[in-house]
Amino acid sequence: MGTVREDGNGLPEGVALTAREDRFRDDPHPIYDRLRRLAPRFHDRAYGRLLLTAFGDVRAALRDKDLSVDARLSHDDAYVRRIAGTGVAEARGDAAYEPPLVLLDDPDHRRIRLLMSKAFTPRAVEAMRGRVEQIAGELLDAMAGRSSIDLIADFAGPLPTQAILDMMGMTDAPRSHFKQWSEDILMGYDPEREPDVQARLREAYLSMAREFRGVVEVRRRTPGPDLISAMVRAQQDGDRLSDLEIISLCTQLMVAGNVTTTDLIGNGVFALLTHPDQLARLHAEPTLVDGAVEEMLRFDCPITETARIARRDGALDGCPVGRGDTLTASLAAANHDPAVFPDPHAFDIARSGSDHLAFGSGVHSCLGAPLARLEGQIAIASLVTRLPRMRLDPDHQPERRHLPFFRGFVQLPLRID
Ligand code: HEM
Repeated sequence: MGTVREDGNGLPEGVALTAREDRFRDDPHPIYDRLRRLAPRFHDRAYGRLLLTAFGDVRAALRDKDLSVDARLSHDDAYVRRIAGTGVAEARGDAAYEPPLVLLDDPDHRRIRLLMSKAFTPRAVEAMRGRVEQIAGELLDAMAGRSSIDLIADFAGPLPTQAILDMMGMTDAPRSHFKQWSEDILMGYDPEREPDVQARLREAYLSMAREFRGVVEVRRRTPGPDLISAMVRAQQDGDRLSDLEIISLCTQLMVAGNVTTTDLIGNGVFALLTHPDQLARLHAEPTLVDGAVEEMLRFDCPITETARIARRDGALDGCPVGRGDTLTASLAAANHDPAVFPDPHAFDIARSGSDHLAFGSGVHSCLGAPLARLEGQIAIASLVTRLPRMRLDPDHQPERRHLPFFRGFVQLPLRID
């Protein structure tokens, strides 16, 4: 683990502002609160970035069309270069890779997002409702007779992985492999990763891409009613998605779509179990479930931050920003800004509104948000109904992932008897 550095104000920097550090991983909000109060645009010299923690700044940065998502525009030593898809691209070192949508600027971003949204329609998502209910039901049925479970391995992990495989028309694909590959690919977000982790990441990316390549080839010949066929068919002004683009989109949908939703369910259940009054309220008023999921997204959001790069010298509301500078927009800190959310550290399932930034904002805002909400609502409603006595297991500790950006549990042991 890297050394903890503190700047002149006693504010932590670098690795101390990531989930690799125990204190920050357990509860980042005391640190975010100090940053927001003392230095809302904090120059984290250790990782060469400006860290934004105020809701207004974070939303403005996400919506600023002058800012880029392309890490290659950042300074050579920037933290953002060591993470995200860039790690995969460098490791691959060949042309068989397309940056994921979230790391593309216009005009490529606009072109691919438009084509993609033609396949990923609200209707296609709503059509998944019955199937998601069925998957949740089967996973709960499999717990019959057990007194303890690991919520992540037994429910929150498999549910979104199976849902996205079903949407892609790959119901019988090896679910556990896709889950493991997703977790391995996620390690690209660890700025301090070791070479063996990088090698695993590369292997996982290649394995997943290989699976998708086979399916895309079949669907070009014999399309069906699934998402991959819709991507193959999607056209706009004579434009189409190439095979490589579809394979890369499938990989992104799988990784972005399953880990984040697993974390929504895990973080959400943990919040309920550590706030028994709110759990009791949900038992008494099940119709609060949609609002409860929005509050879970706000209170402990699965993607804690995202980055943007300045294309030119300028200013962020009076604060100077130079070309190539990285801005880290903390979604987690913004969602706890008392200027927008009264009593922000209280978990209140009846807090009205979905104006949190858990799904981002602006042109890159989450394409899968309707699916994530559908899965989150069905998951929480069925867990509360079918496991009315679920509680934290006093004999086994929950364990959070030691990775920046993706906040969630690797294991969440529960008693259910
Ligand atoms: C609770 C679950 C989820 C959360 C918290 C979440 C969060 C986010 C956030 C914050 C962004 C914007 C990142 C940025 O601006 O840099 C994003 C983008 C994206 N998400 Fe999600 N997401 C979730 C689930 C999903 C699902 C289920 C899918 C698809 C199956 C998905 C697909 C995408 C895609 C394709 C983008 C890139 C959009 C673009 O760049 O235009 N996400 N997500």
